[in-house]
Amino acid sequence: MLADKFILPECKVYMCGHSLGPSTKATAAAVNTVLQDFALHGVSSWNKSGWIDLPFILGEKIAELVGANPDEVVVCDSTVVNLFKVLKAAMSLQSRGNIILTTNNNFPADLYIAEGIAEVKYVRDNELYQNIDDTVAVLMLTHVNYRDSSVLAMKDINEYAHQHGILTVWDLSHSIGIVPLNLENSSVDFAVGCTYKYLSGGPGSPAFIYANRKHHVLMQSAIQGWMGHDRPLAFESEYASSGVRKFISGTPAILSMKALEAALEVFDKEVIDKAYSITKKYSIILIKSMKDFGMEVYAPQNRGGHVAFTHKHGYAFSRALIDAGFICDYRAPDLVRLCVNPLYISLDDIEACIEQMRFIMENAWYLKSEYNQMQKVT
Ligand SMILES: Cc1ncc(COP(=O)(O)O)c(C=O)c1O
Repeated sequence: MLADKFILPECKVYMCGHSLGPSTKATAAAVNTVLQDFALHGVSSWNKSGWIDLPFILGEKIAELVGANPDEVVVCDSTVVNLFKVLKAAMSLQSRGNIILTTNNNFPADLYIAEGIAEVKYVRDNELYQNIDDTVAVLMLTHVNYRDSSVLAMKDINEYAHQHGILTVWDLSHSIGIVPLNLENSSVDFAVGCTYKYLSGGPGSPAFIYANRKHHVLMQSAIQGWMGHDRPLAFESEYASSGVRKFISGTPAILSMKALEAALEVFDKEVIDKAYSITKKYSIILIKSMKDFGMEVYAPQNRGGHVAFTHKHGYAFSRALIDAGFICDYRAPDLVRLCVNPLYISLDDIEACIEQMRFIMENAWYLKSEYNQMQKVT
């Protein structure tokens, strides 16, 4: 456990890292330093404190975590904005057709973005291979599913897609920081992901973009922002940009970037590998116990960092569990998710959570009226 690196809510077990990772201890100090630098040096801080280079500096750190080259990753904007940029870039690299293939259980926001760009063909996870054919331009997938935590076989799918001339775009939001990744080895074309879940970057911390080097020359960004220009401060009338810099749009959000930079100190490949193997053990224990007392728990063979179950009174169940000290979340209409990240959750916590769930089930505690009043953010 690296629990001493995190600030955790008192007397609670934090099982919501799949939604918003807990703060690291270093985060508050890093944000305070930005505020002090800003107060003392104002605009000079862009140079003095190296703020201007943060999209690349953080990109290099994330490249190490995802098995990419340092010049293949930048940090900027939000995940869905980045998805828009890379999907548009991938589509424009393809001279054939207008079809994006995806799964119907993909994250809804990703589907909204794709539908705004091209014709979207939806298939089930187990129908993917039979629909990978020459009519498809781009395959857009999420590696770890936000609902059931199932993991897609990234390398195999990419290789098969490439045999058909398809480019692949992956959303790694539920993978980065908890599932070992090797984008180079897995032949990924483009990827995006968020940093506020398993990387604990803080609320709204900026997302990242991965673009395989082989596309750097021909790819273009649909958002040609001034910060993506090769010489942003030259204010030339012609747009010129190279490499992954093409995907940077406007002024980086420095407070969030610095918070993320501090959080990234906790992570390296070894930490993630270890966390992943313990996560597997915890998930197995949790899933087995929940099945034993009759819960409808998802049990995919390969899993990410959370365990999910459905319940007719899912919302109230999640409120009862939070009240009992286990911070989880609810997704409409009936899903409850529990993060089992061993960086800040112990086996004792898992066992205590199982006992509480058993109690809530056996006593129909979810029927209490106080747990049935909907909150704005769940
Ligand atoms: C798979 C996936 N993609 C994207 C996002 C969010 O994107 P954004 O950071 O743009 O809000 C989430 C958020 O939960 C997600 O689960």
